Amino acid sequence: MSAAQFSKREIERVLEVAKQMEPFARKEKTSDLLKGKVLATLFFEPSTRTRFSFETAMLRLGGKVISNYMMMETSSVKKRETLQDTGRVVSAFVDVIAMRHPVAGSVAELAQGATVPVLNAGDGPADHPTQGLLDLFTIHKEFGHFGGLTYGLVGDLKNSRVVHAQCELLKHFGPTGFKPAFICVAPRGLELPAMIKKELKEMGCSIRETDNLEKVIGELDVLSNTRIQEERFATKKEFEKFRGAYSISQKLMKKAKKKMVLIDPLPRVDGQLKTEVDSDPRAKYFEQVTNGVAVRMALMALVLGTHEA
Ligand code: NCD
Repeated sequence: MSAAQFSKREIERVLEVAKQMEPFARKEKTSDLLKGKVLATLFFEPSTRTRFSFETAMLRLGGKVISNYMMMETSSVKKRETLQDTGRVVSAFVDVIAMRHPVAGSVAELAQGATVPVLNAGDGPADHPTQGLLDLFTIHKEFGHFGGLTYGLVGDLKNSRVVHAQCELLKHFGPTGFKPAFICVAPRGLELPAMIKKELKEMGCSIRETDNLEKVIGELDVLSNTRIQEERFATKKEFEKFRGAYSISQKLMKKAKKKMVLIDPLPRVDGQLKTEVDSDPRAKYFEQVTNGVAVRMALMALVLGTHEA
């Protein structure tokens, strides 16, 4: 599963079902929708939100979970079992798999061997479709549409799989003349990959690039902030050049529109989002966490056939 694989209609369907799932994600109602179903979470990379979010989504819909969050160390991959075989074997135990891996392409590799749906929970620096979908869900709740909005993509645009997924999903929206406009804000060397820029342009989206957030923040409807992805740099020294490149503070937020949405997949480090911003009504990053449960509930319900796609 990749963000690029979703059609506009499919994205809309996920968001529709996610809306129905909200009372369960918010712990206001209980559900047995996925009773008897089992999810495996196979994580080869650290995670706090994404893994717990998938697991919470399954448990709160009445299903069960098996989990390994140290696959690199404690699974048979350590004995050099292929991802394909791992996928085939785990499929014998469960109904659906959620997987994260540091190497791009690994989710597809495991999915090749799997006989149950494999949900991509982060594929190296390439893709993070469920995060992208929950970001769209969050934006949709505020604006009710995606076209015609100006999106500021801020931070490590080269390595942020979240930003890549957002682009793949947002490009579908808006009729001609009302397409999303992207302002890419990155330090030199961490720009959005050329391939993604090309795709966005081909879809009719406009793109501008700058390294100065302060100059453009006033134009944004959505500010999508991301961490400098430390673990993707070849050396610590290389990362240090970019550490703390951007910092969202209350002072900066004063220059932003009154109706703006500030999203961030978290974690936050090195002052990328000052805690003083948390109480700003435009800051949606903690709400995104609950939205993520609703979106993952929707995805599992859809792939497990309890909802029509
Ligand atoms: C993101 C990730 O893992 O790509 N986190 C998440 O899923 N909430 C973003 C990040 O780590 O910067």
